[in-house]
Amino acid sequence: MGKIRAAITGINAWVPEYKLTNQELSKMVDTSDEWIMQRVGVKERRILKGKGRGSSVLGEQAVRGLLLKTNTAPEDVDLLICSTVTPDMFFPATANIISDKCGIKNAFSFDLNAACSGFLFALQTGAAYIETGRYKKVIIVGADKMSSITDYTDRTTCPLFGDAAGAVLLEPTAEEFGIMDYIFHTDGSGRKYLYLKAGGSVKPASHKTVDAKEHFIYQKGQTVFKFAVLNMADVTAEIMERNNLKSEDIAWLVPHQANLRIIEATGRRMGLAPEKVMINIENYGNTTSATIPLCIWEYEQKLKKGDILILAAFGGGFTWGSIYLKWAYDPK
Ligand code: UT7
Repeated sequence: MGKIRAAITGINAWVPEYKLTNQELSKMVDTSDEWIMQRVGVKERRILKGKGRGSSVLGEQAVRGLLLKTNTAPEDVDLLICSTVTPDMFFPATANIISDKCGIKNAFSFDLNAACSGFLFALQTGAAYIETGRYKKVIIVGADKMSSITDYTDRTTCPLFGDAAGAVLLEPTAEEFGIMDYIFHTDGSGRKYLYLKAGGSVKPASHKTVDAKEHFIYQKGQTVFKFAVLNMADVTAEIMERNNLKSEDIAWLVPHQANLRIIEATGRRMGLAPEKVMINIENYGNTTSATIPLCIWEYEQKLKKGDILILAAFGGGFTWGSIYLKWAYDPK
């Protein structure tokens, strides 16, 4: 028997209705549409409004839609992995909450945190379960309510982030489709450039940490930018080389959407025409775990069976990586 591969057999995403525009942001901090578009490439981002609504609300919507779209009974799901840096709470896992809300009763579920590379790491983890032959239906959901850790008085971070969730169904296939290869890296020495200072076991929440705004994203933008450009380009070049892929073999690059300039640099390094690069940062900003499935979902109707996709991400940690996959179905 040939190798069992994990193929994406369905995709769905969900974003909240509220659009926070650059105009509105310009009234909150000293910034402008011109600066944000030039330096980052974001026009608007979605915000999940309402008290007591966390990332599981986003994830639940994405997963519910995915179950409907793929005609999957919730009881048939074997495993659900949620990638998030903004869990509903420390524990239980947001994956458990999403499963419960969606009627997924026969699965085990857990969260995985690799910051902006989380969806890729979770996708590969799910694929590895499928490849054992024991698991038939695995859901990977990336859900982040970034607005819950964004300081809307800090102009260097508040234009960047938005809220969203995206989910895929992974199923086994004996054909040459699905996840073909991956390369992942972490470098924990990068942790000081992009992180949440308080709220963990090193510095539990206190009046002092709240007053010092240490429960919001801290980022040394320029340093992260340099590492992101270099490593995302390197890791995509590396996966192409290892698999003997030329730029003309690749149908799509699906990059994490953190900054349009990082996305364009990665596409150039791969020798790809700009129209082969999936981009939707303008409408959603950086939704961390959700950027990649949100992008593929928007482009789904353009994808054909056999298309070669390279997924790439860089994020806090530092973490970065790329996945090479062959799309498994034609537009429906
Ligand atoms: O997804 C996780 C990984 N994260 C990333 O990949 C993000 C990587 N970093 C970036 O995308 C960019 O570094 C940022 C978009 C965060 C910032 O862009 P930049 O080109 O690196 O700007 P900068 O930090 O060097 O700031 C340039 C200038 C500064 O003013 P001075 O010191 O030159 O007078 C900033 O104070 O722009 C100023 N500035 C702003 N001006 C208007 C910073 N933020 C703003 C703003 N509006 N929102």
